[in-house]
Amino acid sequence: MRIAILTGGGDCPGLNAVIRAVVRRTIQSHKGEVFGISDGWAGLIEGRLQPLDLRSVSGILPKGGTILGTSRTNPFKTAGAVEKIVENIGKFKIEALIAVGGEDTLGVAAKLHEIGIKVVGVPKTIDNDLSGTDYTFGFDTAINIATEAIDRLHTTAESHNRVMVVEVMGRQTGWIAVESGIAGGADVVLIPEMPISVEEVCKLIKLRHERGKDFSIVVVAEGARFQDKDQTRTIVQDEKLDAFGHVRLGGIGAILAQAIEERTGYESRYTVLGHIQRGGTPTAFDRVLGTRFGVAAADLIMKGEFGKMVGLRGNKVQAISLKDAVGKLKTVDMELYEIAGVFFG
Ligand code: F6P
Repeated sequence: MRIAILTGGGDCPGLNAVIRAVVRRTIQSHKGEVFGISDGWAGLIEGRLQPLDLRSVSGILPKGGTILGTSRTNPFKTAGAVEKIVENIGKFKIEALIAVGGEDTLGVAAKLHEIGIKVVGVPKTIDNDLSGTDYTFGFDTAINIATEAIDRLHTTAESHNRVMVVEVMGRQTGWIAVESGIAGGADVVLIPEMPISVEEVCKLIKLRHERGKDFSIVVVAEGARFQDKDQTRTIVQDEKLDAFGHVRLGGIGAILAQAIEERTGYESRYTVLGHIQRGGTPTAFDRVLGTRFGVAAADLIMKGEFGKMVGLRGNKVQAISLKDAVGKLKTVDMELYEIAGVFFG
C-alpha cells in the first residue's frame, strides 16, 4: 500500500517522532511505501511529494520541528485547491493519507474524508486543546520550557522585588498557563476560559504583598480575556485573519504588567515566551506519545479504518471519529484551575 503523510499548522516538538514511526511501521511491518508531502496541504495542492525511506527518517527522533515543513494553508478557502488534491492523490497513486495537525488541519482532513478521500488523523498542538485525546504531543515540551522560564524569572523577581508577568501560548485555552503556573508556583494565572478584571488581578497581588511577599509571578495565556464590566476583551497583535479565520494574538503580558504597575505601584516587568515554547528537542514524553500515535496511525490505515483520529485515553491509544474530534475544543479542566487558584494571592 502506498500512503502519504503531511504535517500542518503550527509546528511542535514530536512531529518527527510521528513521521519516523509511520515510515518504520509502514515499510517494515506492513511492507508498504510512504511519501512525504511538503508544507502541509500546500504541498498536496502543488504536488510536492517525495518518497520517504528508512534512511530519510534516521536520526530525526530528537529533532524539533518537522522534516516535512508545514503551512497554514486551507484548501477549502482557495478555488480549485480541493480538485488539485484529488488530482495529485491520483497522480502519485496515494491510497491513503495521514494528516498530522491541530483543529484546522484535522478539520480539513475530516472534510476530505467526507468527499471520499481515505484519511487518518494524528492530533498535534502545544495548546493541548483537541478533544478526543487526553494529551497532544508538544504540550509536555511546552510546559517544561515554560516552567523552566518561570523558575528563572522567580529568582530575578525576588532579587528586585518585582512583579513578573509571563505570557505563554494558548490561543483559545489555557492549558499551558495552568500547568506551567502550577508547576512554577505562579501567584495568579489568567486563562481564556476564565475572564478576570485587572482590578481582581491587582487585588490578589496586593494581598500577597500584604502578607509580606515583595515579588509576584503572574502567568497569562496569550488568549486570556480581561473582564471589563459586562464585556470581555482579548488583546490582538494583528486583526487580519489567517486562512482558518484566526487573528494573531499577543501583547496581553505587556498591557497587564503596565496596568499592575500603575494600579499597585509595584515595579513590574513582562516576558513573552512565544515560539520558544514550540522550538527545540521534544521531551521523552512527547517522543513516546508521537511514536505511539505514528505506529497506531499506520496500523489504522492497514486495517482500512479511515476517517478516524488516534488519541490517548488514560494510557491507551485509541481511534475516534475525526469529525467528533474536531467538533469541539478541549477547554481547561476547572478542577485543575481550582488547584492553581489555591496558590493565588
Ligand atoms: O496553535 C498553536 C499555537 O502555538 C498557538 O498557541 C499560537 O497562538 C499560534 O500557534 C501561533 O501561531 P504562529 O506560528 O502562526 O505564530
